[in-house]
Amino acid sequence: MSFQNITWEVADGVGTLTVNRPKQLNALDVATLTEIGQALELARAEPGQVRAVILTGAGEKAFVAGADIAAMSRLGPAEASDFAALGHRTLDALEALPVVTIAAVNGFALGGGCELAMACDLVYASDKARFGQPEVNLGLIPGFGGTQRLLRRVGLMRAKEMIFSGEVYDAAAARAAGLCLDVVAPEKLLEHARAKARLIASRGPAALALCKKVMQRGADQPLPQALDGERTAFAGLFGGAEAKEGMAAFLEKRPARFPAP
Ligand code: HXC
Repeated sequence: MSFQNITWEVADGVGTLTVNRPKQLNALDVATLTEIGQALELARAEPGQVRAVILTGAGEKAFVAGADIAAMSRLGPAEASDFAALGHRTLDALEALPVVTIAAVNGFALGGGCELAMACDLVYASDKARFGQPEVNLGLIPGFGGTQRLLRRVGLMRAKEMIFSGEVYDAAAARAAGLCLDVVAPEKLLEHARAKARLIASRGPAALALCKKVMQRGADQPLPQALDGERTAFAGLFGGAEAKEGMAAFLEKRPARFPAP
């Protein structure tokens, strides 16, 4: 499949999706969101080959500077609803991907860009990264899930402050707020993300997929229900080849050879 606004490469079990509109600071329009969705479908269709996904932005300045404001400025309410729904579908698909997803935030992650990063499991940043939800400067509110994912990630009061003020956080402030994990030099960012991705990709894929599912689902469930989900997933693994291989490998003092899920 060929893409215009993104690139998609797979190496060593890790897929790298790069939003590639550097002249517009990688802003998300309908075509770009659609291509992101298509690349995620490719990742989902090849679970044996793609065991982790990294998202990043092309160029030195931006991860993704938000939804494309020029395109948005032409929308009426019905089209804006469709655009938000496309963003929700795309980011929901990213969040639901059965493999681990990592945002490598190399620059501005504003508005829809911050929302894209938050739909990933793990976020690493370069010291040039800037995070924010500046929609109120445009007379808008976050529309790709930011009002909800931000409060789940950083807590309600911090999320309110970020969204009400539209303030942009540097990488250190973003890390302190819980928006990203490690902050590294720009030239080290992709390798840092790839090293984490390769490490995670070497673990049992069925276990990873289930961990991700029960943790995400459980975050929005009462604890007893969430623990039920954990028990069911834990027990289910005992019927599959992966856990047998993992435990046998430990007992035989050899590395595990996990089958594709
Ligand atoms: C379209 C964008 C853009 C965006 C930047 N550009 N951000 N185009 N949509 N979100 C374009 C600029 O128009 C400019 O094009 C070029 O990229 C370079 O940007 P500059 O502004 O010249 O760069 P700089 O002065 O360094 O400022 C960088 C910046 C600023 C701080 C990131 O560009 C900025 O504030 N961008 C908007 C950020 C934002 O508000 N994002 C939230 C969008 S709303 P030209 O042609 O002039 O060179 C959103 C809602 C999501 O995301 C939900 C929708 C349902």
